[in-house]
Amino acid sequence: MSSKQGTGVWENNATQMSEFNVPDKNVPDFMYGTAWKEDRTAALTELAIRTGFRAIDTANQRKHYFEVGVGEGLAAAYRDGVVSRADLFLQTKFTYQRGQDHRLPYDPEASLSVQVAQSMSSSLEHLGTDYVDSYLLHGPSSLDEWADDDAEVWEAMCKERDDGRTRFLGVSNISLRQLEEMIESHAEVSAFVQNRCYARDGWDRDVRAFCKEREIIYQGFSLLTANKKVVSHPFILEIAERANATPAQVIFSFARTIGILPLTGTSSVEHMKEDLASFDLKLSAETVEQIESLAG
Ligand SMILES: NC(=O)c1ccc[n+]([C@@H]2O[C@H](COP(=O)([O-])OP(=O)(O)OC[C@H]3O[C@@H](n4cnc5c(N)ncnc54)[C@H](OP(=O)(O)O)[C@@H]3O)[C@@H](O)[C@H]2O)c1
Repeated sequence: MSSKQGTGVWENNATQMSEFNVPDKNVPDFMYGTAWKEDRTAALTELAIRTGFRAIDTANQRKHYFEVGVGEGLAAAYRDGVVSRADLFLQTKFTYQRGQDHRLPYDPEASLSVQVAQSMSSSLEHLGTDYVDSYLLHGPSSLDEWADDDAEVWEAMCKERDDGRTRFLGVSNISLRQLEEMIESHAEVSAFVQNRCYARDGWDRDVRAFCKEREIIYQGFSLLTANKKVVSHPFILEIAERANATPAQVIFSFARTIGILPLTGTSSVEHMKEDLASFDLKLSAETVEQIESLAG
């Protein structure tokens, strides 16, 4: 346990009520993200699992992720009996060519539907499994609409799910308008939305509200890095001080309380422990409201 863990009751009148129904989709309450780790990916994935993370986020996008390394980390954890495949929630993504470098996991000349199938096959091989728990569209093909390409990709992803290669589907880097258009054009509702969460946008308030109404689990990334001013705001520092917690723990606890399933991509074992322990931190309803209104 780090110095900021296990400090008992952290605030009075605690309302640590998560608004997303995690058991429904069997999602662990913190995700470990594997972006930007290059040749440390295997060791850090293994370390995250040994430290207690049970949900791993990656992408078949070699530019930012080393999915083969994630698979190696998983294999090491299985080999030592730390976990089995069934203990883990594995999430990966399909990324359009424009989000990739030259190291593509599919034939760029093939149709988008075929690209999805090829990317999925490659992910399963990288991860040493015959199914993932969640498969995300890394981002729609344009910034302002749910386009025909996205519709084709989504239908192909639905087929992957129907064929048993993923349990759930989701979308990432998506706006409210795109979500509305997506829901209008498909029978299938996304199980997850994964977005960068800016405090200045009320922590993605509109998209979160949309998700909540439809029981879509909202995953938030860059909670610390996109909100540096909030993380170091005197109010956050004061709560952290009073609770013998770190500002990062306050942010993660806050996020979960308002229904965000947080991601962390820390490379530090101390931060991994602190992040997981943040769920012992109870914030009052009043504190949560004040944090929510800090910026936006
Ligand atoms: N869908 C997408 O397009 C998308 C985009 C970006 C990220 N993601 C996913 O989200 C994951 C997380 O990415 P992120 O953007 O949130 O950033 P991150 O990789 O989690 O980076 C967090 C930064 O904050 C620092 N930090 C300081 N104290 C910390 C603490 N207690 N806990 C955690 N970090 C602490 C970390 O440094 P230390 O390493 O020293 O702790 C690190 O530099 C990625 O790995 C990826 O899986 C998805």
